[in-house]
Amino acid sequence: MSTTVVSPAPVWDVINGYAAYAALVTAVDLGVFDAFEDDAALDAGELTRRIDGQSTEALVLLADTLVSLGLLSHDGSAYRRTPVAARYLVSGAPHEMTALVRLSPGPAASWARLAQTVRAGRAAVGVGDDPGAFYPDLVAATAPTQRAVAAATAGELDARGWLPQAPTVLDLGAGSAAWATAFLAVRPDAAAVAVDLPEVIGTTERLAAAFADRLTIVAGDYLDVALPAADVVVLGHVLRAEPADRARALVRRAVEVAGRTGTVVVADYPRPDPVGPGAADRDAVLASARHELLLSLTMLASTGGRGVTEHELRDWCADAGASVVARLEPLPRQHVFLIRPDTSSVAGPDKEIPA
Ligand SMILES: C[S@@+](CC[C@H](N)C(=O)[O-])C[C@H]1O[C@@H](n2cnc3c(N)ncnc32)[C@H](O)[C@@H]1O
Repeated sequence: MSTTVVSPAPVWDVINGYAAYAALVTAVDLGVFDAFEDDAALDAGELTRRIDGQSTEALVLLADTLVSLGLLSHDGSAYRRTPVAARYLVSGAPHEMTALVRLSPGPAASWARLAQTVRAGRAAVGVGDDPGAFYPDLVAATAPTQRAVAAATAGELDARGWLPQAPTVLDLGAGSAAWATAFLAVRPDAAAVAVDLPEVIGTTERLAAAFADRLTIVAGDYLDVALPAADVVVLGHVLRAEPADRARALVRRAVEVAGRTGTVVVADYPRPDPVGPGAADRDAVLASARHELLLSLTMLASTGGRGVTEHELRDWCADAGASVVARLEPLPRQHVFLIRPDTSSVAGPDKEIPA
C-alpha cells in the first residue's frame, strides 16, 4: 500500500527565507551588484577581487545562492546581474531599493516580540515611540520608489483634469515629500504643504530642497495641526501604521480638506478583506496577497497599526462622504486609491480646517 508523504517543503521555504534575506543584505553590503559595472560578465575570481574577498569558494556559494534567488545569472563561465538586480539593487539607480532592503522589515527587536504582540493585539513598543530613530532613514530609503509611483499618479490626475489652475497639494506624513514634490514637478504652477513629525521634517527639508520655493513644511501630528484647504490630499503609507480609530479620523480629515472638488490619494498595501470567497478560493486569495499580508504583519510588529484592508478604506471613505473612484498600480505591488467626494454635502472649506 502506498502512502502519500506530505512534503515539508513549505516549512523549509519559510525557514530558508531568513537565510535568503541575509544573503541579499550581505550582497548589498559587499557591493556585489555594484561590482558588475556596465552589466559586465564576471567570473568568480574577478567578482571575488572586486568585492575585496579572500575566498572565491565562499563567494561562489553566495553568488550561486543569489542565482537561485533570481538576482544573478550564470552562463557556465561567468556571473551577470539580472534585470531585477540591475534596476533595483545598484547604488544610485533611479529605482534603487538597497537601503529599503535593510529597513523595510523594521527593527529586529519587534520580530522577537511578535508572539507577545499577537497575544496582546498590539505592539508594546513601536517605531512611533521614537520616530527620529527610524523614520528619517526609512523615508530616505523609500524615496526613489515613491517618487516614481507619485509621478505616475500625478500625471494621471492631471490627465483626468482633476488638477485645477495653480493646484495646492497637501502631503500628510510626507517623509521625503516624494508625493508633494512629484505633483510640483508635474505642474510648475502648483504649491504644496508637507506635514510630518518634528523629528522628521529636517529630512523632509533636505530631500525636498530642490522644491523649497513652492513647498511649505509643517511640523506636527497630522490629526492635530491646522490644515489648509487643498485640491489634492495625499495619505502615502500612513493609514497602515495607525490604529483603526486614528486611520478613520485621518481619512475623514483628508476628505474634509479636499472639499467638494478635491481628490484624496491613498497609497498603501491593502491586505484582503476579512470576509470573501469560500474556503478554496479564500486560500488562493490569501496566497496571492502574501506580500500585502507580510507588510501588514510588519506593521503589527512595529507600529500601532496592522495594515489596512480595502473594505476598511471604503468604509472610512463612506463615513466621510466620499468613495474610492479608481484604483491604480503605477508600479508592480504599489497600489494607489483615488478618492472623491460623493455629493456636495461634503464640507468645502474656504481657508483652514481647525484641529
Ligand atoms: C512610511 S512613511 C511614508 C512617507 C511618504 N508619505 C511615502 O509614502 O513615502 C510614514 C511617514 O508618516 C510620518 N508620520 C507618522 N506619524 C505621523 C503623525 N502622527 N503626524 C505626521 N506624520 C506622521 C512618519 O514620520 C513618516 O515620515
